[in-house]
Amino acid sequence: MLEPEIAAHPLDLEKIRLDFPILKRTVHGKRLVYLDNAATTQKPQQVIDAISDYYSNYNSNIHRSVHLLAEEATEAFENTRLKVQNFINAQSTDEIVFTKNATEALNVAARCTTSSLKPGDKIVVTEMDHHSNFVPWQQIAKEKRAQLEIVFTTEDYEIDESDLESKLDGAKIFAFTHMSNVLGTINNARKFTRIAHEKGALVVLDGAQSAPHIPVNVQDIGCDYFALSAHKMLGPTGVGCLYGKRDLLLKAPPFLLGGDMIREVHRDRTTWNDLPWKFEAGTSNIADVIAFAAALDYLTRLGMKNLQIHEQEICKAVLAELSKIEDLEIYGPKDPERRGAVFAFNLGGIHAHDIASILDAEGIAIRSGHHCAQILMEKLGVPATSRASFYLYNGYDDVDALSKGLHKVREVLN
Ligand SMILES: Cc1ncc(COP(=O)(O)O)c(C=O)c1O
Repeated sequence: MLEPEIAAHPLDLEKIRLDFPILKRTVHGKRLVYLDNAATTQKPQQVIDAISDYYSNYNSNIHRSVHLLAEEATEAFENTRLKVQNFINAQSTDEIVFTKNATEALNVAARCTTSSLKPGDKIVVTEMDHHSNFVPWQQIAKEKRAQLEIVFTTEDYEIDESDLESKLDGAKIFAFTHMSNVLGTINNARKFTRIAHEKGALVVLDGAQSAPHIPVNVQDIGCDYFALSAHKMLGPTGVGCLYGKRDLLLKAPPFLLGGDMIREVHRDRTTWNDLPWKFEAGTSNIADVIAFAAALDYLTRLGMKNLQIHEQEICKAVLAELSKIEDLEIYGPKDPERRGAVFAFNLGGIHAHDIASILDAEGIAIRSGHHCAQILMEKLGVPATSRASFYLYNGYDDVDALSKGLHKVREVLN
C-alpha cells in the first residue's frame, strides 16, 4: 500500500465513501475503483434521496399553478439557483440560467455573444478546448463568415501566452477551458480574462471541469459567461448552468422559444420574460435541478478548498507512482499546483482501449479514447489516450490499485 509523504489530508474518506452507495458494489468480483470522474461523478445518497423526495412528496410543475405542491416545487427549484449563485459567487440569481448540461450552456453563450457578429470578426478558442467549447464556435464562425483562431498549447501543456496575446488582437470573443479534461491544466482564468478584456473581447469560460474541483469565483475571474454541468459535481445528469453577466443576458436574444420564457404573446409579436427565465423555455428538468442543491450542499460542507488540497495530494501520489512505470507517458503539467487530478496517458505502444479493458477486469473504471478533444489529440500526435480521473472519494488505495493494474497490463500484453 502506498505511503505518501503527507499522509494527512483534509477529507475523511472513510466517512465520505459511506455516502456513495455505488462504491459498495463489486465489478468482476473486485472492489470498484472508479476513476472516470471527468466523464461523470458518482452520486451521494443525499442527491438520490432528493430526487425521490420530490417525486414522492411534491411533484408538480413550476412557475405556473398556485396550489401548494407547485409552490413547494417552485421554491425548491429557485433555491438551487440561489445555491449556484453562492457557489460561484455570481452577483444575482438573474445571472444563473439552467440548461441541460455544460454543452447546452456553451451553445447558449455562443448564441448570446455572436448575435451581432459581422463577417471578418474574430473568435478565439484554444487547442485544449473540449468539442463542446470548440464546435459551436467553429460552426458559428462559418455561419457568420467570422475568423476562428486557435491558440497553441506549449510543450509544458499550458496555453501559449505569447500566441494568445497576438491572436487576441482585434478579437470579439475568447472562449477557453478553465481546466482541461485531458491535460488537467488549470488555466489562469483571471489573467487571461484581463488580457482578453483589455483587447476588447468578451470571455466565455468552460467550467465543466473546474467547478467540481476548485473554488470558483466568477466575479473575481471577471469572465462574462461561465458554464458547468451538475453531473460532474455529484449532481444528477440533465442539469447544467450558464452564468452570464446581467447586462449581457438582458441584451442577448433568447435561445429557445416557447412556454415559460414569454411575458406576452400577441398575434403579431411576443415579449420575453424577465431574467433568467427568458432563457428557460418549456418545462425544466425540475427533479434534477432540485437534487443538484443537495450536491452543492455536499461540496460546500466539505469545502472546495479542502477538496482542492485533497486532489493535489492525490496528484502528487499519482505522478510519483506512474513515473515508476516504464514507457508510461503522462500528457499534462508536472506541477500538482497547476493541474487537476485527471491524467491522460499512454503506455508503450499498447492501445488505450486494451489498457481500459484490462483495468476493467481488475474493477478499475477509466476512460479511453479522444475525450472529445480531437484537436488536442492531433497536437499530441496520438489517436487516443487512457485517462484516469479522481474525485473526493478516491484515496491513495485507488492510486495504488491503478498502479498495480498498469503493471498487470504490461505483464499481460508483453
Ligand atoms: C472541459 C469540458 N467541457 C465541456 C464538457 C461537456 O459537458 P457535458 O457533456 O456535461 O455537456 C465536458 C465533458 O466532459 C468537459 O470535460
